Amino acid sequence: MSEITIQTPDDWHLHFRDNDMLLETVPATARCFQRAIVMPNLVPPITTAEMAVKYQQRILAARPQGSSFEPLMTIYLTNSTSEADIEAAKSAGVVAAKLYPAGATTNSDAAVTNLAAMTPVFEKMEELGLLLLVHGEVTEQHIDIFDREKVFIEQNLSNIVTRHPNLKVVFEHITTADAADFVLESSDKVAATITPQHLMLNRNDLLVGGIRPHNYCLPVLKRQTHQQRLLDVVQSGSAKFFLGTDSAPHEKHRKESACGCAGCYSAWSAIELYTQVFDELNVLDKLEAFASHHGADFYGLPRNNGTITLVKEDWQVPAQIKLPGGDDIVPFYAGKTVHWKVKG
Ligand code: NCD
Ligand code: ZN
Ligand code: ZN
Repeated sequence: MSEITIQTPDDWHLHFRDNDMLLETVPATARCFQRAIVMPNLVPPITTAEMAVKYQQRILAARPQGSSFEPLMTIYLTNSTSEADIEAAKSAGVVAAKLYPAGATTNSDAAVTNLAAMTPVFEKMEELGLLLLVHGEVTEQHIDIFDREKVFIEQNLSNIVTRHPNLKVVFEHITTADAADFVLESSDKVAATITPQHLMLNRNDLLVGGIRPHNYCLPVLKRQTHQQRLLDVVQSGSAKFFLGTDSAPHEKHRKESACGCAGCYSAWSAIELYTQVFDELNVLDKLEAFASHHGADFYGLPRNNGTITLVKEDWQVPAQIKLPGGDDIVPFYAGKTVHWKVKG
């Protein structure tokens, strides 16, 4: 097959950032995605309905002319999130709330330190049908970074899912066989997003032959056996797994640093790279469901009307991109050849 047309896809997990950066990130996503779940980890974080609505307006203002792209908003859970905050979020059209264990990832210092205390908030979300999106890693110093996702399942996620059987939970950017198996063994209220980098890379791509800061993201890339398990579940076509790029830009100087930031800016090539992965797995026929059906169905939203077409054609991801403010960003897969291209 050298060409494939699919219903317009959605990106169920990304980071647009704010202000000037939106002029780069929003068009890059709107070029092929109809909707995206916008993560709330700004500084300060988007913790209320009011903040989410204002942020949504800034995103809408950054759309290219004529674009019908729709940002789907989330709020960031903190120790002081109340049931009233959840009610207000629901009324304002916010679709989900994001749980970051405090300190787990970029801009998560303000997040939840006591999961047990969140019970009333989770109950309210369950009642109103707001989804819980989870960055699934523990943060205790003594837990090895490669084990943090697995330990989070054992210590936290399994409890949340058991105590709130009607809460829809998205285990975001899963990286391990443990996470894939947990999702498969859980009820149909539990699903997961998978990024292009976790399908394409393993920790050798981060560490062999020199440190590759542009492959550094959280949860960190794992060993090849885990990568293989993620490939297996997407190849299986299970409706519990769907597209979430976790596109997460950081300026070049913040990535190429003695203490580099976590995040891969993949919006320029993500749909093409997923297509390449599905092609290499010989399951291009399952791409559309992963990219355009499973997420919308899980969220209880309609599938999109339009289509996009990808053609099998080589092109190169730019080595770097200039931001409106003058800074540079090195995109994910910079300088490398991608074998699929969005047509038109
Ligand atoms: C994300 C970011 O930079 O905001 N980084 C990342 O490595 N994935 C945060 C996140 O999704 O955990
Ligand atoms: Zn995360
Ligand atoms: Zn993310």
